[in-house]
Amino acid sequence: MNKATAVANPNIAFVKYWGKADEALNLPANPSLSMNLAGLTTVTTVAFRAGQTSDMVTIDGQSAAGEARERVVAHLDRVRALAGIGERAWVASRSDFPAGTGLASSSSAFAALSLAASRAAGLALDEPALSRLARLASGSACRSVPAGFSLWQGDTDRDSYARQVASPSHWALYDVVAVVSREHKAVGSHAGHALASTSPLHRARLDAVPGLLPAVRAAIEDRDLAALGGAAERDALAMHSVMMTSQPSLLYWLPPTLAVMQALRAWRQEGLAAYFTLDAGPNVHCLCEARDAGVLSERIWNLPGVLDVLVSGPGEGVRLVEYHLF
Ligand code: PMV
Repeated sequence: MNKATAVANPNIAFVKYWGKADEALNLPANPSLSMNLAGLTTVTTVAFRAGQTSDMVTIDGQSAAGEARERVVAHLDRVRALAGIGERAWVASRSDFPAGTGLASSSSAFAALSLAASRAAGLALDEPALSRLARLASGSACRSVPAGFSLWQGDTDRDSYARQVASPSHWALYDVVAVVSREHKAVGSHAGHALASTSPLHRARLDAVPGLLPAVRAAIEDRDLAALGGAAERDALAMHSVMMTSQPSLLYWLPPTLAVMQALRAWRQEGLAAYFTLDAGPNVHCLCEARDAGVLSERIWNLPGVLDVLVSGPGEGVRLVEYHLF
């Protein structure tokens, strides 16, 4: 039995991926740039086993069913095709944070699955190949493959993958997540991407990306939080404007989502440098320097409607570990 276990961190994008140029290949409508989140992890063990008749998938201790299972099986099929094997697999995966709430759980889940499954199948993929494989399952997962800060660009299947732009040690940028809901969102990003082009604002957002991307890259290089945070807020609001004006409309915000965003802007006036971004969900990612993470967490904890606070610095890339989940 060939067994492998991988650990991955989810990532938060400062320039978002929203909308696809190619649905089947998961080619994005625009390049995106993100940071891995060291404080949140997914661990996944995969074993291919002769004689097993179907794939067995457990996620957070529960047997997976429906769309969640189908996405894992489809990804195992990609790995089997690459490795030229037919065996069915046993997959167990655990994340230490809630899934489907705008914490990018699919990014760490499919990065970890790509490495664990490819290794268990006897493949030794290099970083670009692994990032490309992860992209096919969930676009944002390709950015959890390199360590630290990564840029996902490229227009074809072959060159669409994430490359590191800065290592985790380059900048102790922190993401303090205000968790305001643990409910699984009604419309996931998979269905959401397909709606992007129904919004009259989609084109306007895409037109802004070529200006935004070099500004965010330079802000990371210069460790300039005001420049990074300002651009991240603008793009998160642009993406949510696209979501809200799609047909049907997607409205992910809850009252505490807005309360956290407004509190952050008020604290900024008082001198606490913190900026927000959001994924496809109501939870608010608050970006700050390492030295402010403690005071920011405490303030966020004290806001009404906040259920949990998750603190992360820049995370490593996807990696193999020696222990297994079964
Ligand atoms: O990778 P997907 O298909 O779950 O899409 C992720 C989309 C956002 O999280 C909303 C934005 C991003 O770039 O991570």
